[in-house]
Amino acid sequence: MSDQRVHAIWLNGALVDARGPHISVTDRGFQLGDGLFETARARRGVVIELDEHLERLYSGCAALKLNIGMLPDQLAEAIDELLAAEQLGGTGRDGSPIGDAAIRITVSRGDVERRGLLPPDFEEVVATVAIQAWPYAPTTGEARAITSSIRRDPASPLAGVKTTSRADYVYARLEAARAGAEEALFLTMDGNLSEASAANLFILRSDQLLTPPISAAILVGTTRTWLLAHAERLGLVPMEEEDLRPEDLLEADEAFLTASVAGIVPLVEVDRRPIGTGRAGPRTRALRAAREDWIDAMSMAALLPEPPD
Ligand SMILES: Cc1ncc(COP(=O)(O)O)c(C=O)c1O
Repeated sequence: MSDQRVHAIWLNGALVDARGPHISVTDRGFQLGDGLFETARARRGVVIELDEHLERLYSGCAALKLNIGMLPDQLAEAIDELLAAEQLGGTGRDGSPIGDAAIRITVSRGDVERRGLLPPDFEEVVATVAIQAWPYAPTTGEARAITSSIRRDPASPLAGVKTTSRADYVYARLEAARAGAEEALFLTMDGNLSEASAANLFILRSDQLLTPPISAAILVGTTRTWLLAHAERLGLVPMEEEDLRPEDLLEADEAFLTASVAGIVPLVEVDRRPIGTGRAGPRTRALRAAREDWIDAMSMAALLPEPPD
């Protein structure tokens, strides 16, 4: 049976019909990809690592001198409003199903009718802010990757900024799709491993957990940061500061990708060559389960009443 409900998105202060119309043709996001975005996971109506996502969003706004025009708390309230309207915030307490959602916050510089990359009054423009939410069911899939022909430049000041200018990433995914793979890996200009088109990359070598360093033109993922912080508790030795070469991936025992919504996803093949056994490894599966358990525990803890002072 199809869902007859009218779905909503949150746009510039109000819930509106998701079918649109929404924003102007002169919006800088549409014209120039002049914007930023975040994707996050929510469980039981609790946005996981919300502070980390908002911190990255606001520091991206500062880097691009983009006037978001909202405080982080207002953004958090807007997400709550949308999750409630979309019936995705179920806590599971009152017999309601537990809500699992993927959330996207998109911020563009806003609507600017004047032509040009940087019109004189650009600092006065107030951003367009949109929030979308979708039901999310965690999957247990595996990913195959190709190496993209696009290289990442560690010297770029935008390497770690999550802008909506994603043509490179879309191109890389087209390369992957043509080769029958789900993901594309980027190398840096000097041939080191960087990251995937929508995820960070990790390698397991015995009990050592390796990942390209921040200097390898990566987005500093929230899931990556979580994993490095929790690695020892999970029985691994984190070794993040090593440059990694493509051969390291092929010689790894296991490899996986990390992102907020997809979680920890086994990477089983690169350029049609198997990594490890060519199937999801036991350590990767255990890490994935540990992350899911942590998300569940965090969502429950956030719903507990505050202890009295
Ligand atoms: C290019 C890229 N790298 C890494 C990540 C992982 O970041 P996070 O764990 O914060 O979702 C993403 C997530 O979308 C991404 O697009």
